[in-house]
Amino acid sequence: MSNESFKVWGICGSLRQKSLNMMALKVAGELMPQGMSLQITHYDDLPMYNFDVQAKGFPAASDRLRAEILSADALFFASPEYNFSVGAPLKNVIDWMSRYQPVPFFGKPAAMISATTGPLGGARMQYDLRKIVGGLGAQFLGKPEVFIGMANKKFDEEGRLNDETTRKFLTDQMLAFKDWIPRVKRAFA
Ligand SMILES: Cc1cc2nc3c(=O)[nH]c(=O)nc-3n(C[C@H](O)[C@H](O)[C@H](O)COP(=O)(O)O)c2cc1C
Repeated sequence: MSNESFKVWGICGSLRQKSLNMMALKVAGELMPQGMSLQITHYDDLPMYNFDVQAKGFPAASDRLRAEILSADALFFASPEYNFSVGAPLKNVIDWMSRYQPVPFFGKPAAMISATTGPLGGARMQYDLRKIVGGLGAQFLGKPEVFIGMANKKFDEEGRLNDETTRKFLTDQMLAFKDWIPRVKRAFA
């Protein structure tokens, strides 16, 4: 049994004030077992990726995100699906991060969830996110996968989760994630 404590950085793919994905991210943080803790990043100040901007120097928000990712033991994404894929806010984060050498995602243990108002729960987004961020070297947990469909019916206005099945899925995923993190860290040490 290890006494390590893992710092997980949470990245939400929605900038919306009452984001269901932010609610789900916070609940997942509460359900993390001992030895894991969640810190959530914010990036409303990140400009849209433009090589001309990068050529003048990385924006402060991008440098900050890079530092947060590098300092994290693991990354946890919670994102909506926009038009069958990853939405622009999260894709923008990924595009900025991909411009650093080495890419800060490389070798990072990672996991994801998605919440949508439709029934599918963002499955199409998840497989694209796996492809994109996995392509940049992040090491994603395989199972359990968590897709929160009809999420507007599962969270109340205050962000409380009132669906026990979802709570169980999230709890199981966090346990598996805790097991996954040291395995990836050892492999990339
Ligand atoms: C631009 C846009 C595209 C969307 N596309 C999808 C989609 O492809 N699949 C889906 O299940 N929901 C889609 N939705 C609905 C989202 O699931 C819903 O708005 C959800 O609440 C967004 O997550 P958030 O609450 O974290 O902001 C879309 C919403 C927006 C604004």
